[in-house]
Amino acid sequence: MTTSIPLLKLNDGHKIPAMGFGTYPLDNPQAEKAVREALTAGYRLFDTASRYGNESGVGTGLVSFDVGREDIFVTTKLRGADQGYDSTLRAFDESLARLKMSYVDLYLIHWPLPAKDQYVESWKAMIRLQKEGRIRSIGVSNFLPEHLQRLIDETGVTPAVNQIEMHADFAQSELVGLHKKLGILTEAWSPLGRGKLLENPVVKRIADRHGKSTAQVLLRWVIDCGAVPIPKSAHPERMRANLHSFDFQLTPDDMGDLATLDSPHNRTGGDPATYVEE
Ligand SMILES: NC(=O)c1ccc[n+]([C@@H]2O[C@H](COP(=O)([O-])OP(=O)(O)OC[C@H]3O[C@@H](n4cnc5c(N)ncnc54)[C@H](OP(=O)(O)O)[C@@H]3O)[C@@H](O)[C@H]2O)c1
Repeated sequence: MTTSIPLLKLNDGHKIPAMGFGTYPLDNPQAEKAVREALTAGYRLFDTASRYGNESGVGTGLVSFDVGREDIFVTTKLRGADQGYDSTLRAFDESLARLKMSYVDLYLIHWPLPAKDQYVESWKAMIRLQKEGRIRSIGVSNFLPEHLQRLIDETGVTPAVNQIEMHADFAQSELVGLHKKLGILTEAWSPLGRGKLLENPVVKRIADRHGKSTAQVLLRWVIDCGAVPIPKSAHPERMRANLHSFDFQLTPDDMGDLATLDSPHNRTGGDPATYVEE
């Protein structure tokens, strides 16, 4: 992959860009336009999901752009209603058709949905699809330690990625530490806290010290925690600015100040232990 964004190695040997582009809640036409603008800005990792209803727009944006398939990294996700062995195989075919691609780089189980108890079966189907060469890397999203352990115990295959809610005021340090131990790469969804942290005075002070924006400070914090942020923006100038988070360093004092914001009560999305997809 040729890109100016640093590349990180996954536990299966494949490489992933150190920052990606999120596409929720863009609809198909918005996603197609945003993906082209993000490609122009320099993004090479794209995050969509069957549930977002925009795989088709993301795929059209990607395949209509002058970029080699090997030079982009495409992630999509299995929705809850499709969990189970046969239904995962079927749902994956449908996602691939909407994306207009012959493989995806990363396929994730979107939520564990423990009450449904189908994530191990879904995982077995994904292992098969990976062996068939239709998925490069397989991973999960919103998985808690007990869900990760069960996949490993029952299949012997460790996820390459766990994509979790993670932002400076919801740092998830214990889970990120466990990922490191298990060799799982952390992807951070809502790395800007869905925008709510952009006006935070602590973040603003750090941004002023470095002559950077608050968004850049929040993204740099994710990077320094060893995770891959996937910020979403529908504005080309913000897409570009967000990528300029690699050219400065946060000091130990900055990290200490940001740590004061952290609380387990600051999640913006569902709790994976109880979350049920509607
Ligand atoms: N796996 C999961 O369960 C899960 C859950 C949620 C999200 N995700 C993924 O993670 C991606 C990112 O999360 P998110 O979209 O929830 O939140 P986010 O990236 O933390 O924040 C997005 C918000 O920040 C604004 N923004 C972005 N850059 C900005 C900048 N430089 N200056 C000012 N405002 C800026 C955007 O507005 P504009 O668009 O108007 O610029 C948007 O309102 C999603 O798109 C999706 O792909 C995954």
